[in-house]
Amino acid sequence: MRVESFNKILITSLLLAGFVLFLIPQANASENSCIDCHKTLTPFIEEQKKFNQIRIQHLERQVTCSLECHEERVRSLATANYQQWSESLHALKGVTCEACHGGDPAQATKEKAHKNFRNNTDPESPVYYTNVPKTCGKCHSGELANFENSTHFKRLEALKLAPTCTTCHVPHTFTVMNPEDFRTVCGNCHSVYKKVAPYDIPLKAEDMLMKVNKLKFNIEMARQDIFWAKKNGTDVTQAEAYTDNALKTLGGLAPMWHEFNLTHFGDEIDSASKEVKKAEEMVKPSHTPTRTSVPKTPGFVGLTGIISLLAVMYLIRKK
Ligand code: HEC
Ligand code: HEC
Ligand code: HEC
Ligand code: HEC
Ligand code: HEC
Repeated sequence: MRVESFNKILITSLLLAGFVLFLIPQANASENSCIDCHKTLTPFIEEQKKFNQIRIQHLERQVTCSLECHEERVRSLATANYQQWSESLHALKGVTCEACHGGDPAQATKEKAHKNFRNNTDPESPVYYTNVPKTCGKCHSGELANFENSTHFKRLEALKLAPTCTTCHVPHTFTVMNPEDFRTVCGNCHSVYKKVAPYDIPLKAEDMLMKVNKLKFNIEMARQDIFWAKKNGTDVTQAEAYTDNALKTLGGLAPMWHEFNLTHFGDEIDSASKEVKKAEEMVKPSHTPTRTSVPKTPGFVGLTGIISLLAVMYLIRKK
């Protein structure tokens, strides 16, 4: 009886395992030909190694690049872009190549999948730099709406000398840069040499973005203090309402940044910071020796000193 039921369990488990194994390859295969094919264009394939060898020989003999070289360049570009994309938040969220480039991801051959493709230097291409805001705006409507209200957008349309989305969110990682990077990015145009006023923009932008990071940190700190105050039985309803206000403003900051009105942006940061301060004042722990006063205990160095002194005295007495 026991053996029989054991057998039943074993057979069912085996069947189940077989079924799961049968499912896995299908779950892994993407139904997107752009990804399936570009994934295989690895940069270290034999062909490419050979090509590099030829290129080095060419360089040694000072032979200029042939058409073949250029084809290879596009190929390696397509590879590098795949690699960068695969590590991006876009990849994680299933935003695949055709979302920005067009084409038909249901087609298996390159020719059919790339149908109606245009080079990114073609003003009709969805990734041509003046078309980029609309392409990204299909999903990032908040950023696009604010951007369309900016002087940058108007200059981009009229003069073409203005940043587009990819000036600051570089393909294909599409990350948000660190505040210190904005000194160079904004400085590419806003400098006395490039003659695009206002010239103090680069430092101001860096300063603003650092303030955003500080705000995030302060909100986190306030929430921790609220957590402990609540545990100690304090009524934290009002403090929570203040941090919720700050969080709401913080959430709106990123889209709003794209109108490039630094005064408006700075005012929003200040108003959120005031809310956090009000919350902090209500839940700030009253006795925080580690924060407010210098420790009076000997500390690690002091302790090791005392221990070694005792050891020396012990050794002397032993003799
Ligand atoms: C069967 C393989 C294959 C498929 C499918 C494929 N590609 Fe490509 N793609 C390539 C290769 C190889 C290159 C390198 C350049 C070349 O050989 O044309 C490339 C180049 C590109 C380029 C650069 C084009 C240029 O001329 O500057 C883009 C953009 C691109 N692919 C996007 C896509 C998108 C989007 C899809 C899906 C709709 C897709 N690819 C489907 C193989 C493929
Ligand atoms: C979120 C939008 C977006 C996604 C997703 C995306 N790209 Fe791009 N890609 C762009 C933009 C914008 C440019 C233009 C960059 C520039 O002008 O500097 C570009 C440029 C390229 C180029 C350079 C040459 C050309 O003629 O277009 C290649 C190759 C390319 N992408 C391949 C890919 C592949 C392969 C994938 C998928 C693995 C992919 N891209 C996914 C937005 C995207
Ligand atoms: C098909 C929809 C789609 C398109 C088109 C698209 N994105 Fe995204 N993007 C997303 C999603 C989804 C996320 C994940 C975050 C989220 O859910 O808001 C994201 C995230 C981002 C992030 C945040 C990345 C991070 O690491 O925090 C940036 C920046 C970004 N996208 C820029 C762009 C730019 C620039 C373009 C145009 C070249 C673009 N996106 C086109 C859907 C899209
Ligand atoms: C001049 C530089 C610049 C340009 C141009 C720009 N961005 Fe941004 N973007 C930023 C900065 C800086 C942030 C972070 C703002 C913050 O932390 O408050 C950001 C944030 C974002 C985020 C939010 C990421 C998150 O964490 O929530 C998305 C999405 C995004 N941008 C998309 C776009 C799109 C789409 C465009 C074009 C319409 C664009 N950006 C144009 C600099 C830029
Ligand atoms: C590709 C060039 C370019 C880059 C890069 C650039 N800008 Fe600008 N910016 C302009 C132009 C052009 C103007 C319009 C100047 C004028 O009105 O004379 C402008 C104007 C501005 C203004 C004034 C807006 C107004 O309404 O008067 C602000 C603020 C600004 N930029 C912020 C930034 C920030 C922040 C960055 C970096 C994250 C940046 N810009 C990067 C070209 C650029």
